[in-house]
Amino acid sequence: MGVLIAPSILAADFGNLQRDVEMVNASQADWFHIDIMDGVFVPNISFGFPVLQSIRKHAQKPLDVHLMIVQPERYVQAFADAGAAVLTVHLEASTHLHRTFQEIKKAGMQAGVALNPHSPVHLLEDMLPETDLICLMSVNPGFGGQKFIEGTYRKIEQLAAMRAAGGYQFKIEIDGGVNQQNAPLLQAAGADVLVAGNFVFSANDPVATIAGLKAL
Ligand code: DX5
Ligand code: ZN
Repeated sequence: MGVLIAPSILAADFGNLQRDVEMVNASQADWFHIDIMDGVFVPNISFGFPVLQSIRKHAQKPLDVHLMIVQPERYVQAFADAGAAVLTVHLEASTHLHRTFQEIKKAGMQAGVALNPHSPVHLLEDMLPETDLICLMSVNPGFGGQKFIEGTYRKIEQLAAMRAAGGYQFKIEIDGGVNQQNAPLLQAAGADVLVAGNFVFSANDPVATIAGLKAL
């Protein structure tokens, strides 16, 4: 299976949300990446349930929801009801990640955990058997359009080695600063899902840009 592409709606034109969602439907993208920010865990506020409902109304591909909020366990059922297929919470925002994963799965979603750039991958060692997706932040979360952090490659390789050694199934997702130059290197290091915001939505031809990432 090739790499999965998840365009980040954070970089869409919110005045033309239906148009941009339909662009993703018509493209070779695999998932919609949905960034939820609370202004506390990260220094930015993105959007909440009314906007998510508008996205869901038109989206024809799975919703990959990335919660950048404190105490994410408060909203597990609400995001299940809002149509999330994958629900990712931050390790740094989770006191009881194991319990939160149980609740995410009970609600019928895949369970993901995101790591900030400062968090080493070995912190997840005891959660690997329960994990469907690990999102490595390759920028500091909060904003689109930032520069890719090069240290991410090493973290992908470490995780891919841990996955092979334990025979685990989790996907490795990379979020932040993904572009046509680093995408092949990310895939070679072991990434399975590439999130791309600005690179897709500021392109002259977003559908062709997604096809370019997909054709790696
Ligand atoms: C950052 C978000 C990312 C962001 C990626 O906090 O989690 O998903 O939208 O945007 P680009 O691809 O522009 O770095
Ligand atoms: Zn994200």
